[in-house]
Amino acid sequence: MVTLYNVISGDGYITERDGSEDFMPDDVFDDYIDLCKKSDVVVMGRRTYEAIQKYPKLLLDKFENLAVKKAVVTHDREFILKQAYIRAFSPEDAVALGNRILVSSGPGLNSYFLRKGMIDLLILNKLNKKINKGIKPFDIDIKKFIGNPVSTEVKNDRTMLTYKIHNLL
Ligand SMILES: NC(=O)c1ccc[n+]([C@@H]2O[C@H](COP(=O)([O-])OP(=O)(O)OC[C@H]3O[C@@H](n4cnc5c(N)ncnc54)[C@H](OP(=O)(O)O)[C@@H]3O)[C@@H](O)[C@H]2O)c1
Repeated sequence: MVTLYNVISGDGYITERDGSEDFMPDDVFDDYIDLCKKSDVVVMGRRTYEAIQKYPKLLLDKFENLAVKKAVVTHDREFILKQAYIRAFSPEDAVALGNRILVSSGPGLNSYFLRKGMIDLLILNKLNKKINKGIKPFDIDIKKFIGNPVSTEVKNDRTMLTYKIHNLL
């Protein structure tokens, strides 16, 4: 089972144009941590790895101390990771590391997984706050991959929308 998770602004962006995630309240990170705890492998692209290294220590420690494999996808065979992480040289190698996989990355890698029919569930944790411009979670139109959400969980400032992915391959 492979689940793709992203936090999005009310108007559908995962980050601001400069990559900043300042619009996200810190406690939204706990939603990710909860999903990580239900997984045996979490997967991210190399740039997401670099972005989370700049998170406040408290948040980063919470993530890095989880007893779950943390796979970073990169083409770069020389890329040095912290000890808590595992290098994967392709998305396929990353998902082969376990059975309950949680992917959370940017548009290139997210779209690759979707196009290749590797995603079972998509969770979009949608904040109420809009940011007007930024980076979208996918660089392809995802409408054909999803229908209505199969579950909708409302918290104070956000709504977690879960979609079953239609495999088009
Ligand atoms: N809002 C959210 O929920 C959320 C979640 C995750 C990330 N983000 C944000 O998204 C941004 C990063 O997204 P991004 O799209 O720029 O980058 P990304 O998906 O994190 O990483 C892209 C990198 O992954 C590697 N990669 C991708 N496809 C590959 C393949 N088929 N085989 C091998 N390696 C592959 C490449 O690394 P190399 O260049 O090293 O080869 C590529 O440059 C950050 O700002 C992060 O904060 C937001």
